[in-house]
Amino acid sequence: MENKKQDTASALKDIISHAKEYGFVFPSSEIYDGLQAVYDYGQNGVELKNNLKTVWYKAMTMLNDNVVGLDASIFMHPLTWKASGHVDSFNDPMIDNKDSKKRYRADTLLEERAAALEDEGKEAEAKALLQKMAKCLDAGDLEGVRQIIIDENIKCPVSNTANWTEVRQFNLMFSTQVGAVSEDASLIYLRPETAQGIFVNFLNVQKTGRMKVPFGIAQIGKAFRNEIVARNFIFRMREFEQMEMQFFVRPGTEMEWYSKWKETRMKFHLALGIPATSLKFHDHDKLAHYANAAVDIEYKFPFGFKEMEGIHSRTDFDLKAHQDLSRKKQQYFDPEINENYIPYVVETSVGADRLFLAILCNAYTEETVGEGEQEKQRVFLNFHPALAPVKVAVLPLVKKDGLAEKAQEIVNSIKFAFNTTYDDGGAIGKRYTRQDLIGTPYCVVVDYQTMEDNTVTVRDRNTMTQERISIADLKEKIGYAVSMERIFEKLLS
Ligand code: GAP
Repeated sequence: MENKKQDTASALKDIISHAKEYGFVFPSSEIYDGLQAVYDYGQNGVELKNNLKTVWYKAMTMLNDNVVGLDASIFMHPLTWKASGHVDSFNDPMIDNKDSKKRYRADTLLEERAAALEDEGKEAEAKALLQKMAKCLDAGDLEGVRQIIIDENIKCPVSNTANWTEVRQFNLMFSTQVGAVSEDASLIYLRPETAQGIFVNFLNVQKTGRMKVPFGIAQIGKAFRNEIVARNFIFRMREFEQMEMQFFVRPGTEMEWYSKWKETRMKFHLALGIPATSLKFHDHDKLAHYANAAVDIEYKFPFGFKEMEGIHSRTDFDLKAHQDLSRKKQQYFDPEINENYIPYVVETSVGADRLFLAILCNAYTEETVGEGEQEKQRVFLNFHPALAPVKVAVLPLVKKDGLAEKAQEIVNSIKFAFNTTYDDGGAIGKRYTRQDLIGTPYCVVVDYQTMEDNTVTVRDRNTMTQERISIADLKEKIGYAVSMERIFEKLLS
């Protein structure tokens, strides 16, 4: 049995069409031709995404005694974003091609050029180019960035000309007005990260939860960014979800915690079934002004290794900035050392949609089965059973002779324990295929023997082998196989 994993750029196209055809991801408002960089999750996508959010949230809060949850609002006081630096510096440098009228991120154009140089074996040139760009960006020298684009003779892929506008900074925050009357209305932002909701609630949680440093606050929620270049399906969206955790520590201990969380987060992705060969750490070459260490966990998407999660040691930058602007002390009294201080923060931040895409890409499997005339191609989604949208499909071999009723009875006895579906439409092989395509790990078949001895066959999605078991054992056997406990056990091992 040849098992072919998709890893070329064209594989993304197959994954996008599979996601649409089988109810995982649809373009937003598609009947109006869609809205760029915005997507909707279908009946199977929402199950997969909810499973990912649940496993992350539980891994954070249930498995760590000192991490608790939070659900802050999307709208926050506008000064929040002044303090965090987003109003002044959450910008991307953009450049337009005058002929095609297409807009690009200037830094991305140069990064792509550097990647091309690397592919040609010119590593030193690539590095020098990136350094030159970083120097200009650090100094706010946008004319310098434009000059490098001109010097490198970078052309617009649409018009094939180098007829560029100047480079301008473009703030990524969406804003709107709050208040019914326009004169009273004030400008408010849609949060570009969930983290600030955690920072401004740090003392609320610490005091009401009687939390002792070190402790963490975990949150899942929507974030919004007016991305200039939205590409690669759900990888870069304008509305997306983040799963973030801020871990508050005593100053001076942050590197220890940074290493610990780095390791814990990598273990999480491995426990979800992503192979080590598809994951790597990428240390940030250039640190943000608030960070003293930062690393990305990258996944090997069909378009290359790209950031899936960021782990940042953010020092006391955010709490200090909020303290300064709000004039409210953000200090913690540490009884162990009898001292007041503003805690340092180690942040883990993963996009729920990026993790979804990684899990989907990783699961998408094409294989050749059978030999000679029997040889055929099959596609299945090899999800970890705990993540699969549907855990079990119950299929009566035929609809007559009481088999359909028996199958319904089985569904009713297990459906409250895990996501179960019933299907009696078409040949049994076709029904297996339908389940393989959405990644259902088990198909339970009710046949004539079932009517005699209350046993069913259980077909495994990956091996396609069947085992006969008693109906009475179904809930327990399948229950364990599809439970998140199996992931948690790996995390704690
Ligand atoms: N609080 C830190 C922060 O927001 P970030 O690196 O900008 O850091 C963290 O974002 C994660 O959020 C990324 O690793 C990615 O998974 C996800 N993310 C960021 N922008 C995104 C976008 N436009 N679409 C989808 N996911 C995005």
